[in-house]
Amino acid sequence: MTHSLSNHFLRASVLYALAGMALGIHMAASRDHGQHATHAHLMLFGWIGMTLYALVYRLLPATAEGILPKLHASLAHLGLIGLTAGLYLLYADRIATGEPIAAVASLALFANMALFGLIVFRATGRAAAPA
Ligand code: HEM
Ligand code: HEM
Repeated sequence: MTHSLSNHFLRASVLYALAGMALGIHMAASRDHGQHATHAHLMLFGWIGMTLYALVYRLLPATAEGILPKLHASLAHLGLIGLTAGLYLLYADRIATGEPIAAVASLALFANMALFGLIVFRATGRAAAPA
């Protein structure tokens, strides 16, 4: 059994954490906390959320099988990168550009979580083999 999807999420989560912390340090150093919501979502979804995905895919290997987890991973990255860019522009007062990006990215993240729900329910339902 390979853990490639879990490893992928673990590596990605560290990279998102470094980017989010760099933004946090920039805010603290500049004494301008205007991007705190951008930082919060990058840290919580990028670092905490992606690490949780990595742990679930590792602890319940049945969840990592098939094409759905790959689609789930693509939506996670597209959604988070889009939400980060959209929020950044919104809070940099470029609202007309940021808002549609954030809106589409939000829907991608919602779809990402719904798909994760489907993956988890399928792998843990009555018919699923014991983990
Ligand atoms: C290098 C490390 C970090 C720095 C320098 C940093 C810096 C900051 C700053 C300056 C703010 C704005 C505070 C405010 O004006 O309200 C903030 C907010 C926040 N940070 Fe960080 N942070 C760091 C790491 C983290 C980590 C590891 C997490 C989560 C895992 C995190 C989660 C948050 C959240 C959720 C907020 C939003 C709180 C709020 O204002 O509602 N941060 N951070
Ligand atoms: C569909 C995806 C999401 C959307 C569209 C969204 C949108 C928002 C908005 C509009 C705010 C208010 C920002 C402000 O104060 O100006 C907010 C705050 C917050 N969200 Fe989200 N969010 C999403 C997902 C998440 C997720 C997945 C987490 C955690 C894992 C999260 C954690 C937070 C936190 C901690 C705050 C308060 C921090 C702050 O205002 O800086 N959000 N979110």
